[in-house]
Amino acid sequence: MANLKFYSGEQVPLEMHKVRMVQRLNLLPVEQRKTAMEEAGFNTFLLKNRDVFMDMLTDSGVNAMSENQYAAMLQADDSYAGSETFYRLEKALSDVFGMKYYLPAHQGRACENIISNVFVKPGKTVLTNYHFTTAKAMITLYGGVVEEIVKDEGLKITSSDLFKGDIDMEKLDEAIKRLKEENIAFLRIESGTNLIGGQPVSMKNMKEVTDICKKRGIISVYDASLLADNLYFIKTRDPKYKDMSLEQISHEIAGFFDIIYFSARKLGCARGGGILTSNYDLYYKMRELVPLYEGFITYGGMSVREMEAMAVGLRETMDIDVISQTPIFVEALAHELQKKNVPIVTPPGGLGCHIDAKTFCEHLPQEQYPAGALVAAIYIASGVRLMERGTLSEQRNPDGSEVFAIMELGRMAVPKRVFTLSQIKYAADRVGWLYDNRKLIGGLKFVEEPSVLRFFFGRLESIGGWQDKIAAKFRADFGDSL
Ligand code: F0G
Repeated sequence: MANLKFYSGEQVPLEMHKVRMVQRLNLLPVEQRKTAMEEAGFNTFLLKNRDVFMDMLTDSGVNAMSENQYAAMLQADDSYAGSETFYRLEKALSDVFGMKYYLPAHQGRACENIISNVFVKPGKTVLTNYHFTTAKAMITLYGGVVEEIVKDEGLKITSSDLFKGDIDMEKLDEAIKRLKEENIAFLRIESGTNLIGGQPVSMKNMKEVTDICKKRGIISVYDASLLADNLYFIKTRDPKYKDMSLEQISHEIAGFFDIIYFSARKLGCARGGGILTSNYDLYYKMRELVPLYEGFITYGGMSVREMEAMAVGLRETMDIDVISQTPIFVEALAHELQKKNVPIVTPPGGLGCHIDAKTFCEHLPQEQYPAGALVAAIYIASGVRLMERGTLSEQRNPDGSEVFAIMELGRMAVPKRVFTLSQIKYAADRVGWLYDNRKLIGGLKFVEEPSVLRFFFGRLESIGGWQDKIAAKFRADFGDSL
């Protein structure tokens, strides 16, 4: 982020890069957007990207890479075993985190599979600040139970708390007393806590929690997928770390934990992942699963070209001008939405802006998936694709009853360095229009519901055909505008 004031006094997020390669976008007329949503079963995952104007589904694997990342891809060493690419990546990871061992895996959930396979036994609990969908699916697959112990403030939509992802120390203490150490598979802290709005975790909290883990012999695991955002917030929100380099901060974090894993679809702007540890016993236990599920130990299921891009991307994560771009754009988007009274999670977090669907669609009961209905309606109103992060993204209890999400969110992810400010303003404008017409949004019901990660493939239909009313009102208000 440029340390730069505008003469006008306006707060404008200023890019510290220029665009040198572009992809053409299409914006379909509202009637065609309505049909595309119907054909996608009211599930934004099932839209075809050719029908999408701005893809704000995720910041995963869709971030813009730098020229140096593309250049590095050309020097990839394609050997099955002992690839030079692996050693370059290993060195980059060691420079960034200072941990001894690296196990490559093809993406974040592959790391979660390996860690859960080794450490989760039936009936054991994983304590976490907050779950992530794939992490929870893997833990429960191996018979474990997930218990969330984030502080209460983290679950409030509006707050001025700067580290809403922190664990509540009393909840931690109570959980350890109740469960006993031997029944806790591990403790997991997720950086930039995704499902509560991309909220950061403080250094103080990570230290206090992992100190207790060390004392009690509980394995501590850090999901560093959203580390870049979390580093930015630590540096800009915690005065103690203001003058520390990003390398120093990430080394300090790594010193707290037994195991770190990450999705390089988020961290490092490439596509891949991996697990790090300095503990040989833990490394040894996990290592044998890499060739089984991923690939040989020097590529872990990844393309060597992506590994080269990842190595460069990880080093670039240590540059504040690189990692500040997303949070300042998220803040600008949040500001635009707030000007239109759209209810959002505050403070704005890292990976995107999160719309509070419970308030936006307060006329809809949770059984009718308000966050799912909201993101479907936003696509029809704008061609912008969001992701549902609410009850649809939960999995049912073993008895088949619905798990109602604590937060019903529509996530407008801001992929790194992808959109311009005018595009951000367009997206906010259309969401603002929908907010003024929110009563037109109706509920959804399943027509096809998979039992695992249902939000990926599930198909729904609208209750009462409300999509027709939204398209008609759009046409009436916007005339022949797209
Ligand atoms: N951990 C966190 C915090 C994540 O956000 C994700 C993915 C994963 C693990 C899994 O990584 O996709 O490489 O297997 N988040 C994506 C998202 C899917 O859209 O937020 P993966």
